[in-house]
Amino acid sequence: MLQTFIDRVVSRKSVIGIVGLGYVGLPLVLRFAEVGFKVIGLDIDDSKIAALDAGRSYIEHISAGRIANAKAAGFEATSNFSRAREADVLILCVPTPLDKHREPDLSYVTDTTDSLLPHLRQGQLLSLESTTFPGTTDEELLPRVQSVGLHVGEDFFLVYSPEREDPGNSKFTTQTIPKVCGGVTENCLKAGVALYSTVIDNVVPVSSTRAAEPNQTARKYPPGRQYWSGQRNENCRGHNEH
Ligand SMILES: NC(=O)c1ccc[n+]([C@@H]2O[C@H](COP(=O)([O-])OP(=O)(O)OC[C@H]3O[C@@H](n4cnc5c(N)ncnc54)[C@H](O)[C@@H]3O)[C@@H](O)[C@H]2O)c1
Repeated sequence: MLQTFIDRVVSRKSVIGIVGLGYVGLPLVLRFAEVGFKVIGLDIDDSKIAALDAGRSYIEHISAGRIANAKAAGFEATSNFSRAREADVLILCVPTPLDKHREPDLSYVTDTTDSLLPHLRQGQLLSLESTTFPGTTDEELLPRVQSVGLHVGEDFFLVYSPEREDPGNSKFTTQTIPKVCGGVTENCLKAGVALYSTVIDNVVPVSSTRAAEPNQTARKYPPGRQYWSGQRNENCRGHNEH
């Protein structure tokens, strides 16, 4: 199953599903479309779907021309989550705002995953890009995927790869910002690296999802908070980069 997944990625036969078409998701849509993939964008915000259908951009530094090019390459945006079944790859780019206790609110990630569950199938890869707690992929996504009978690392691949978008920065683009990727298993990591290497110049494999998760949390959330520093130390122990 791993080799089939990689072969489909390398030959651009894979269909890429991007879930959450905001500052992180839309540039990824454009990048995958640019290199020849068919892309399906999923979002619950109908105004974004309507804008993309009409070829309009709602992000300042993204031109309508780039959206038109993606559409010409087959990009479609929809709020119909059953289309997720058509995708070989599902990349979650949904928000993780701080809640009133200044803890990351994971409800968007868990709600989105729950919406996708009926549409998951063998041969797919699910990647979480949202900024999140160390352990989220293992503790929140893995049990959900297993609950629908999929065998992660065998017939389904699960990775965490923190987004590193720097909106509007013309010196560093989605393609040129190095991208960390951690897999739940070795096969997951191989599938994730094969996927991201098609669109990112420098993909940095790390030993686990827990090793990848702090890369973004450390950047986004305020330093010095007890939970984060404790978790980070705990999770990084023994998880050096390959
Ligand atoms: N924008 C950045 O530069 C940046 C930088 C660092 C980290 N991040 C992280 O990346 C993640 C995404 O951030 P963003 O800036 O793209 O957010 P955003 O708000 O611009 O976009 C998120 C999109 O997800 C959609 N969405 C919400 N719930 C959904 C659901 N259940 N199903 C499908 N779509 C849903 C929203 O409608 C929105 O279009 C967050 O975890 C954020 O912390 C972003």
